[in-house]
Amino acid sequence: MKKVAIVTGGASGIGKSIAEALSQEGLDVIVADMQEEAGLVVAEAISGVFIKTDLSKRDSCRQLVDQVIRDFGRIDILINNAGFQHVSPIGDFSEDKWDQMLAVMLTAPFLLTKYVWPCMTKQKWGRIINMASIHGLVASPNKAAYVSAKHGLIGLTKAAALEGGEHGITVNALCPSYVRTPLVENQIADLAKENKVDENEVLENVLLKSAAIKNLIEPKEISSLVLFLCSDNGASITGASWTIDCGWTAQ
Ligand SMILES: NC(=O)c1ccc[n+]([C@@H]2O[C@H](COP(=O)([O-])OP(=O)(O)OC[C@H]3O[C@@H](n4cnc5c(N)ncnc54)[C@H](O)[C@@H]3O)[C@@H](O)[C@H]2O)c1
Repeated sequence: MKKVAIVTGGASGIGKSIAEALSQEGLDVIVADMQEEAGLVVAEAISGVFIKTDLSKRDSCRQLVDQVIRDFGRIDILINNAGFQHVSPIGDFSEDKWDQMLAVMLTAPFLLTKYVWPCMTKQKWGRIINMASIHGLVASPNKAAYVSAKHGLIGLTKAAALEGGEHGITVNALCPSYVRTPLVENQIADLAKENKVDENEVLENVLLKSAAIKNLIEPKEISSLVLFLCSDNGASITGASWTIDCGWTAQ
């Protein structure tokens, strides 16, 4: 029986790399994203399925899971990966942006976990991976909603891991520092423009300042860890937060 995986935010960056990696392992992969054009391209390239999903909407989360169960009859792996950044001091932080960020990066992972739970418990097997961040472990200024959502996601990971143990479901969080994706490339461009410096300077003096290894992480490094956690060798690993951070949080 082919295993079935849902990857949210699978149209771009880390999610795209995870979708490709799971597909290469022979899984049926569902790319769930709000970006239709890019999502369809990824899904077609991996012979997977694209389902247009707006994770900020509760109905859309429900419809995603219902459609996958209807079409495939099972869900083995859930990758809660979709997310976005908004940078602003708390005093000026848009309340709508706060709501939207919490909805996509914390509420949607909870809802999808809840909705796939009956299917995974029935199968007595499941793997849930939540894409947190080093900002799930430590804070940076001007990222209140992002930091709050990612800290919350690590809490959800631990709570779900405790409940999943008896059902063969493992739940883990990944905590990367800066990965080479459109999300980061846009941040570098914005900071360079704002501070009137070139992008290399932003990379070295801002983004990688606290890192022991002065590199952006490649998406493939993240998807390799996802494959390991989803394999039989990951069966005893649950409730953990995996840092992949070039030594960022070692100090
Ligand atoms: N890139 C990094 O350095 C980095 C570091 C730590 C954690 N992360 C986390 O990894 C995840 C993926 O980030 P990325 O860098 O690949 O970003 P990305 O921008 O390349 O991809 C994110 C995807 O999420 C999708 N998305 C956003 N809002 C959505 C919504 N409402 N409904 C459905 N899809 C939605 C986007 O359309 C996009 O395809 C995010 O949760 C991010 O917080 C990224």
